[in-house]
Amino acid sequence: MVDADRLWRRLGELAEIGRVEGGGVTRLSFTDEERVARDLVASYMQEAGLEVREDAAGNVIGRLEGRDPDAPVVLAGSHVDSVRSGGDFDGPLGVLAAVEAAQTTREEGVETGRPVEVVAFTDEEGARFGLGMIGSRALAGLLTPDDLSREDENGVTVAEAMREAGLDPERVGEAARGPDSVHAYVELHIEQGRVLEQRDLPVGVVTGIAGPVWLRFVLRGEAGHAGATPMGPLRRDALAAAAAVVGAVEREAERSGTSVGTVGRMEVEPGGVNVIPGRATFTVDLRDIDGDVRDRLEARIADEAARVCEQRGVRLETETLQRLPPAPCFGAARDAIEAACEGLGFQPFGLPSGAGHDGMQLSGLCPIGMIFVRSRDGVSHNPAEWSSKEDCAAGAEILYHTLLRLAG
Ligand code: HGY
Ligand code: MN
Ligand code: MN
Repeated sequence: MVDADRLWRRLGELAEIGRVEGGGVTRLSFTDEERVARDLVASYMQEAGLEVREDAAGNVIGRLEGRDPDAPVVLAGSHVDSVRSGGDFDGPLGVLAAVEAAQTTREEGVETGRPVEVVAFTDEEGARFGLGMIGSRALAGLLTPDDLSREDENGVTVAEAMREAGLDPERVGEAARGPDSVHAYVELHIEQGRVLEQRDLPVGVVTGIAGPVWLRFVLRGEAGHAGATPMGPLRRDALAAAAAVVGAVEREAERSGTSVGTVGRMEVEPGGVNVIPGRATFTVDLRDIDGDVRDRLEARIADEAARVCEQRGVRLETETLQRLPPAPCFGAARDAIEAACEGLGFQPFGLPSGAGHDGMQLSGLCPIGMIFVRSRDGVSHNPAEWSSKEDCAAGAEILYHTLLRLAG
């Protein structure tokens, strides 16, 4: 039985790192607060009796040896980096529940056949560089030199940030796991939606993870005098054009019935109260569990943006920041989760994940599975993000029994 008090205490301790006023947390990748969070997780892994190391991509890994040290490992984890002003549970719950499951395995004197490795992945959120899942991409051997040249808002590249954090970006390839080296990957995560709460269920089994495409739109019009420029074709107002495109993102996503579309960041230049905006730069996040539906949505938005900009004499540039296919949860990982749920008397209720997760990067390496824990009001990426101690403990208990099944 996992120790719910220990899990809850650790969640509270980790949540104090990177605390911002208003109660949220900000722990961007390769920053001091994220380093402190990883060190705290490493100390919990040590307490759990795991063999702790950091791989070339900065993933913090705690290993519980198995009877057969050469057998493909069972991997379980999540991330400790956050979005700006994020919540206390998104990521940390999965890492700390995996530590708790491994520690309980040892404390109950259970020796598994396969080794179990607990991992805190580097930069899942993508909040700093606009490219997420850096650690899981590296572990799956998918991180490219181009990824390492991505810049944050201060022009610092991933490679430079890694060096500053004491890592050598030239060696990220060493973090890659060979084919057949990982038996399965399982992640416990908060649902970040309302489905479980609406059905009054504490936990759920993820059926698949929606694929996100992240785009950057740059609209260039002409800065001008707000007072002296008459309305109409003489104005090439980049923000007015952007507003029409933002409306199209919402309208077209709603029309699809299943997709979601979000404009999360926008910069307007030069940004004067009496200046017609010359440039508007914004991000677009589109997702669907069906890749074709998402691609058609993206095409409709691109067409509408081109039409709006043409009509307004505004130049349009788009850049793809990341594009991931939807990832089905399947095979041994999902089967073990469902069996663990039933064995513990929980309904193995299946639901898709609108949010992206590290498992998407590993689905080419091994079967992936996810356990969801109910989110209060479905709120996440927000200081009000919260799940109950009982639900977190239920999720951790299911993760524990899932790992025992997968590790043999
Ligand atoms: O964007 C996401 O879906 C995840 O929270 N990184
Ligand atoms: Mn997350
Ligand atoms: Mn998140």
